[in-house]
Amino acid sequence: MNVLVTGGAGFIGSHTCVELLEKGYGVVVIDNLVNSCEKSLERVQQIAGKDLVFYENDVRDRAALDSIFEKYDIGCVIHFAGLKAVGESVAMPLEYYDNNLFSTVTLCESMREHHVNNIVFSSSATVYSGDNEMPLRESSHTGMCTNPYGWTKYMSEQILRDTAKANPDWSIALLRYFNPIGAHPSGLIGEDPRGIPNNLMPYISQVAVGRLDHLSVYGDDYHTPDGTGVRDYIHVCDLAAGHVAAIEYMLGHKGENVFNLGTGTGYSVLDMVKAFERVTGKKIPYEIAPRRPGDLATVYSSPDKSAELLGWKARYNLEDMCRDTWNWQSHNPMGYAG
Ligand code: NAD
Ligand code: WQD
Repeated sequence: MNVLVTGGAGFIGSHTCVELLEKGYGVVVIDNLVNSCEKSLERVQQIAGKDLVFYENDVRDRAALDSIFEKYDIGCVIHFAGLKAVGESVAMPLEYYDNNLFSTVTLCESMREHHVNNIVFSSSATVYSGDNEMPLRESSHTGMCTNPYGWTKYMSEQILRDTAKANPDWSIALLRYFNPIGAHPSGLIGEDPRGIPNNLMPYISQVAVGRLDHLSVYGDDYHTPDGTGVRDYIHVCDLAAGHVAAIEYMLGHKGENVFNLGTGTGYSVLDMVKAFERVTGKKIPYEIAPRRPGDLATVYSSPDKSAELLGWKARYNLEDMCRDTWNWQSHNPMGYAG
């Protein structure tokens, strides 16, 4: 079966392309490279020892999508393409709503026209509202998002849900990722943020490689064991495997399917710093800074539904995540630029 992967040149998309190729799927990627580069796809093909097809286009370009669906027999779409920086979305809400919502709508319109009924969507733990008890289950409350990025995920889920309701042949998988980190064990592909990283793990690894001076730990007075924020970090290769499991499941299950992709275990910021230091032997200087607006103290998933219905479970542990992050960063200190 051929899978159309939007945003396939990005961090999670590139790892998922490897997994798809290795599992025997044909892969067609559409990506406008707004936050990635084509080199990632060259490396994907090198790792898998197989070719994929790449189109450098915007997912909002209906004609480009139509011509792909006309040319290839696509059985399923994985929709990664989107802008994802929380702070930037607060400063540039219209760009985020335009990019993330119109890409979803245009994609669905083109899929409907070409009778492609299966879509896996990159959702996020950010759609869960802040008033839930932990762990977060798929039935936990959603909404009350704290930034435009989060609303685009919430609204895209709703767009897809309504589309599936109106088109009973459709199957949608809404995958709510927790905190993806790590890199492919080959060290050939990994996370390559533009500018100063917003997320913890790329920040730590850029400190380790000497690109940044020290880590700011955003708050040490949370109600957590060591006072720093707790999150559910998951290896990007586990996440990639979760997409293939979701495709296999949704082919036999029409309608809406929502799954958490997390490990179910929370680690604090200082746990992450210590684990990274232990695994890599690098010292990570840090300073305690004020809390970051919008952050919650503790966020972690229940992965039970994914285990039960998808037969999927995270296999990599915290040491693996740190080792693979460092393997990527130390061999590619400037990311894909060198
Ligand atoms: P990424 O930025 O590395 O990948 C996104 C890709 O989409 C990039 O290659 C970018 O060039 C492309 N893109 C963006 N807008 C596009 C458009 N209009 N047309 C074509 N291509 C476009 O991000 P990622 O970390 O790989 O995330 C992938 C998806 O997962 C995103 O939708 C993101 O919101 C979601 N997600 C990410 C995380 C995370 O922490 N990384 C967590 C939860 C959800
Ligand atoms: C993790 C912890 C920070 C950076 C974000 C998005 C979410 C999702 C994943 C896409 C927190 C602390 C961080 C730093 C720090 N993305 N931290 N110093 O906030 O859980 O989630 O990325 O959907 O939507 O909000 O991840 O990696 O930014 O932060 O102390 O320099 O590390 O306060 O406790 P977060 P993160």
